Amino acid sequence: MYFSGACVVALLGFAGHAKATPPPRSAYAPKYVANAGRANAVKQAFQISWDGYYKYAFPHDSLRPVTNTYSDDRNGWGASAIDAFSTALVMGDWPVVEKILNFVPTIDFSNTTTDVSLFETTIRYLGGMLSAYDLLTGPLNGTQKLNTTNVKNVLKQANRLADNLKVAFTTETGIPDNTVRFSPPRKAGSTNNGIATIGTLILEWQRLSDLTGNTAYGLLAQKGESYLLDPKPKLGEPFPGLLGTNVDIATGRFLDGSGGWGGGDDSFYEYLIKMYLYDPVRFAKYKDRWVVAVESSIKYLASNPTTRPDLTYLAMYQNRTLQFTSEHLACFSGGNFILGGLTLDEPRYVKFGLKLVDACRNTYVSTATGIGPEVFQWRDNRTPLNASNNAGPPLNQSSFYNVSGFWSTVPSYVLRPEVIESIYYAYRATGDPKYQEWAWEAFLAVNKTCAVGSGYSSIRDVTKKDGGGFSNFQESFWFAEVLKYSYLIHAEDAPWQVKADHSNQFVYNTECHPIRIASGFEKTK
Ligand SMILES: *[C@@H]1O[C@H](CO)[C@@H](O)[C@H](O)[C@H]1NC(C)=O
Ligand SMILES: *[C@@H]1O[C@H](CO)[C@@H](O)[C@H](O)[C@H]1NC(C)=O
Ligand SMILES: *[C@@H]1O[C@H](CO)[C@@H](O)[C@H](O)[C@H]1NC(C)=O
Ligand SMILES: *[C@@H]1O[C@H](CO)[C@@H](O)[C@H](O)[C@H]1NC(C)=O
Ligand SMILES: *[C@@H]1O[C@H](CO)[C@@H](O)[C@H](O)[C@H]1NC(C)=O
Ligand SMILES: *[C@@H]1O[C@H](CO)[C@@H](O)[C@H](O)[C@H]1NC(C)=O
Ligand SMILES: *[C@@H]1O[C@H](CO)[C@@H](O)[C@H](O)[C@H]1NC(C)=O
Ligand SMILES: *[C@@H]1O[C@H](CO)[C@@H](O)[C@H](O)[C@H]1NC(C)=O
Repeated sequence: MYFSGACVVALLGFAGHAKATPPPRSAYAPKYVANAGRANAVKQAFQISWDGYYKYAFPHDSLRPVTNTYSDDRNGWGASAIDAFSTALVMGDWPVVEKILNFVPTIDFSNTTTDVSLFETTIRYLGGMLSAYDLLTGPLNGTQKLNTTNVKNVLKQANRLADNLKVAFTTETGIPDNTVRFSPPRKAGSTNNGIATIGTLILEWQRLSDLTGNTAYGLLAQKGESYLLDPKPKLGEPFPGLLGTNVDIATGRFLDGSGGWGGGDDSFYEYLIKMYLYDPVRFAKYKDRWVVAVESSIKYLASNPTTRPDLTYLAMYQNRTLQFTSEHLACFSGGNFILGGLTLDEPRYVKFGLKLVDACRNTYVSTATGIGPEVFQWRDNRTPLNASNNAGPPLNQSSFYNVSGFWSTVPSYVLRPEVIESIYYAYRATGDPKYQEWAWEAFLAVNKTCAVGSGYSSIRDVTKKDGGGFSNFQESFWFAEVLKYSYLIHAEDAPWQVKADHSNQFVYNTECHPIRIASGFEKTK
């Protein structure tokens, strides 16, 4: 359906033109205006977070800012330091960069006492180190006197880590076991894995192959992902391109037909288009699958709340039954539609993505804190109100729903980036300063509500003015993502910023670590 439709548009659009006339390179040529004061305010929040972490938690993984203690929630290899690395680099925070650079070679990536998540380790540690290496050997090469041995050590450490992780792929099908154990490296023996954890490895593992010249890493990730690109049986693809969640590792077959753009599924879709941006020749099929998924999402999942038909959220589904619920995590989708629209010169995707950005931003401005909840629900205005999947809000949220078009079902906020992330893409696509205002308001709300003790903490309830109490945890992705997107939207243009005109040199992994695209410049394709 989509392809014939696009063909008609193309024929009409170019009727009368010689076939040799190339299409316009991009409909988008925005002007960006930096705001040094705001960028510096975000940098200051980064410094506060880093100082607290360095004093009370380093070289452990995460700061507990209320009690000034630490947590080794990511195997004890210094997750916050590695997640802060590329942010310190793009902020030009050289004292912090040097500390992390000299720390990296001291990490023992072969030893940990706890289970290792292939997915989390890939997106945070592998992604963080590959990004730092790409930045230091690329656009930041020569800007500072740094220990060049240690720059090389960053790639060596990434390589060592992957060598310890790769046992995960030694299954009957090549679909990885997401849980591995070290000393010696071995699989935990899981029987199934999910599409996000299988499908969010390819960018990092392919980059490692392309940097080292050893094709093995990329091929491992591609083999695992091949079962998601051709899903079987039919149960696993309830709408064209939109998949179930769990896959049997022994057979490669889908175990369910439940999914959407939320946690557990999200970054599988995200990486399909990002791989095409990374290399449109090797990853053309990934793009085709992204297009099918996005067309289905617009056709089947787009949903307007009964009380706010002006808003558009993406429903989730169980088989073909829609669930009118979404998550903070799913709010990355607006940015991903925008990125895909820019990449494929398809303004329809950009426009739809901007609508998703509006609605996710609405979850922020509607609450007492100015921050959106972890999970929320609404009633769809095209589904009967007596349908079992279209129940109304609890009585005490009815007036909130009437005004805001959603109600919170899990009201916490754990320093997640996705709403600000998508606002960043909206700004880079359009140059509209309204998006800088939105990102700044969101940052101010988080900076005010989550600041506590020696840093920033997750909070329990965004619907209470004081955040409902602190859960005493500063996630490593606060450094990698929230602070980076909040900074970049106000910062000067730079080679690592997302571009609207096909001049991208970097693509961001799902942890917001900028990875250099294979061709160096998108334009050379
Ligand atoms: C492995 O890590 C544990 C705890 O982090 C530590 O006690 C132990 O000494 C380490 N072993 C090696 C061989 O480094
Ligand atoms: C920086 O660039 C120079 C010149 O191209 C190159 O010789 C050097 O190896 C690069 N340094 C790093 C750290 O990549
Ligand atoms: C660079 O770091 C290494 C440790 O990884 C150290 O042995 C070396 O002396 C350092 N080089 C300089 C010039 O400081
Ligand atoms: C989805 O469909 C399959 C069979 O097609 C059925 O076994 C399963 O119970 C359904 N799941 C849900 C959540 O409806
Ligand atoms: C919903 O209401 C309509 C009309 O009142 C009725 O025909 C239908 O059977 C009801 N559906 C359910 C699931 O109760
Ligand atoms: C609504 O009531 C439930 C159940 O008593 C309670 O847990 C929840 O906090 C209330 N929500 C609001 C927004 O007042
Ligand atoms: C919300 O709107 C519905 C439908 O208009 C109405 O029945 C209900 O009383 C309203 N709730 C509140 C608390 O105002
Ligand atoms: C952000 O929070 C910190 C810590 O509370 C505070 O010092 C700073 O002034 C805040 N920044 C802005 C722009 O409000």
